[in-house]
Amino acid sequence: MHQDLLIHTEAGVTTITFNRVEKKNSFTEAMYAQLTQALTAADADAATRVLVFQGDVTVFSAGNDIGDFLNNPPANEEAAVFQFLRALVGFSKPMLAAVCGPAVGIGTTLLLHCDLVYAGDNAAFSLPFVNLGLCPEAASSLLLPQMLGYHRAAEALLLGEPFMAEAALEVGLVNRVLPPTECNAYAQAQARKLAAKPLASLVATKRLMKQGQQPALLERISQEGQTFGQLLRGPAAKEAFSAFMEKRRPNFSEC
Ligand code: COA
Repeated sequence: MHQDLLIHTEAGVTTITFNRVEKKNSFTEAMYAQLTQALTAADADAATRVLVFQGDVTVFSAGNDIGDFLNNPPANEEAAVFQFLRALVGFSKPMLAAVCGPAVGIGTTLLLHCDLVYAGDNAAFSLPFVNLGLCPEAASSLLLPQMLGYHRAAEALLLGEPFMAEAALEVGLVNRVLPPTECNAYAQAQARKLAAKPLASLVATKRLMKQGQQPALLERISQEGQTFGQLLRGPAAKEAFSAFMEKRRPNFSEC
């Protein structure tokens, strides 16, 4: 039976592979629920010392499933997507990502919570929230200005235009750029190096680097979520999603 997520643990490394390539690895509500479950289980399971997210060599993720946004928008902060975001922020062990091809919306914002990110030279990051009549999520409105500086973050979030792997490397969003066919294997090799290190030291080091900001991240996820939820039901988002489904350009002249 086909599974949209493949979850595999070997040698201390749990790998979550996005496997909905025919829909560009866009995330459905069911996938968010499964991702949260996988993160919670991996954090508790002694067999997992390191977690890796990876996609296909052609696509990491096209972000939220737009049909889901139209037909099944998240109802409140207990919606599956917000549970996933809180699980990402709370994950205590090292978390890596290998990114090839498009990484749209949450496909990029989830990387802000990873500890190490490796990109294929075909990786294209984009945060098209404004172009969809939405606003940032996953605390990206807090993290991106911190990581990129305000003006580069504003360019990424207001214009929403894709930027490629080399630009992401320059601003510190990724650790290394590789040929796409080598990216997943390299991330696995790095994950195995980490998995061989003392787990308590890894967890303590990550906690010490991140703990000061955790309450602010959760607070921002909540604030963004409230605005996102309102905008999601607004006319601009409806027009953007309908245009995507109908394969036409959106018309925001009335929005
Ligand atoms: N939600 C639902 N379906 C999606 C999707 C998404 N986010 N992204 C892609 N798909 C589907 C397309 O509708 C298409 O389905 P079809 O074959 O049934 O027509 C299929 O995946 C292939 O997508 P396509 O657009 O033809 O691929 P592409 O290689 O030309 O472009 C992307 C890839 C990722 C650049 C493009 O699909 C895209 O921009 N997707 C939307 C991204 C987005 O806005 N996400 C929301 C972020 S909040």
